Amino acid sequence: MKALLTGGTGFIGSHTAVALLEAGNEVMLYDNLYNSSERVVGAIEEITGKKPGFMKGDIRDEARMKECFTTFKPDLVIHFAGLKAVGESVAKPLEYYDNNVGGTLAMLRAMRETGCRRLIFSSSATVYDLHNPSPYIEGMPVTHATSPYGETKIQIETILRDLAKAESDWSFVNLRYFNPIGAHPSGLIGEDPNGIPNNLVPYVARVAHGRLPFVRVFGGDYPTRDGTGVRDYIHVMDLAEGHAAAANYCLTHKGEIPINLGTGRGSSVLDIIHAYEKACGHEIPYKIMDRRAGDLPSFFASADRAKSLLGWTAKRGLEEMCRDSWNFEQHLAGKSA
Ligand code: NAD
Ligand code: WQD
Repeated sequence: MKALLTGGTGFIGSHTAVALLEAGNEVMLYDNLYNSSERVVGAIEEITGKKPGFMKGDIRDEARMKECFTTFKPDLVIHFAGLKAVGESVAKPLEYYDNNVGGTLAMLRAMRETGCRRLIFSSSATVYDLHNPSPYIEGMPVTHATSPYGETKIQIETILRDLAKAESDWSFVNLRYFNPIGAHPSGLIGEDPNGIPNNLVPYVARVAHGRLPFVRVFGGDYPTRDGTGVRDYIHVMDLAEGHAAAANYCLTHKGEIPINLGTGRGSSVLDIIHAYEKACGHEIPYKIMDRRAGDLPSFFASADRAKSLLGWTAKRGLEEMCRDSWNFEQHLAGKSA
């Protein structure tokens, strides 16, 4: 199979490229490098012994996308490219709608003109309505999101659903990710956000490494087991393997379907801190602070549909997620020393 990965040099795209190459597929990465580096292409080759194709380009550039489709001739697209910072999307809605929704429309037009009709989309658990109880099941209502970022995911899912209804030869799988963390066990690829991380695990990693003084635990009075927020953390390599399974499904089914990629288990902020302490071998300082605006107390996935339709379940636990995150953090430190 030939897979075109938009946003392919990013965090989830690069790990998915590894999983696809290791399963014997051909991969082309298409990325404007806004939030990643071309160095990742070499790292993927070092891990797999196979060189992925790379083309620098923006998904909003329809002519460039068409060039990519006509030269590479993919069987399917895995569409990771997009902006993903929830807080930034509140401050810059126009940029988010333009990049994520506008970019997807340009890409779909290029697909239609060049004859590619299969797409796996990086959606998010953020599409589920606030008031849904966990586990989140794919049939639950999706009406509006709490941020422009989340709204772009809902709008793109809607566009894909409408297109599949209007033109019966399309195949779309909307993968709703929960909280991807960790890194490839080699430590050669992982997540390295610029500036102070917004997400929990990259923040904990920097505290563990002494680059930040303590973890700010946002809320200790939630109605959860230990009072801290609960999420469904999933190892990025499990997520990557979920894409390989979804690709096989997409090749043999038409229409549009949403599928959760999560473990089906919730872990608290303190569970993460303690698992990370085991991984790095020392205590991690933390302070319980006020709740972060907009956070939910607890949510996690139903992983049943992924199991029944894709034959996929997440295999790795918190221990492996934190071990591989810590290993990557040490590789980063080694590089900058
Ligand atoms: P990332 O920022 O590491 O990767 C996204 C990649 O897309 C980057 O390499 C960036 O340079 C590229 N890109 C952005 N806009 C582009 C454009 N207009 N044209 C070409 N390339 C462009 O993010 P990630 O964590 O790998 O996320 C991948 C996808 O998964 C995103 O769509 C994100 O919204 C979605 N997602 C991520 C999470 C998460 O927690 N990481 C959770 C749910 C969904
Ligand atoms: C996890 C838990 C925080 C940071 C976000 C997006 C979501 C998806 C994944 C893309 C919560 C707590 C966090 C910190 C903390 N991305 N926390 N201290 O908010 O579940 O999801 O990323 O689609 O759309 O909203 O992830 O890692 O920010 O937070 O205590 O410094 O950790 O309150 O309970 P979140 P997160």
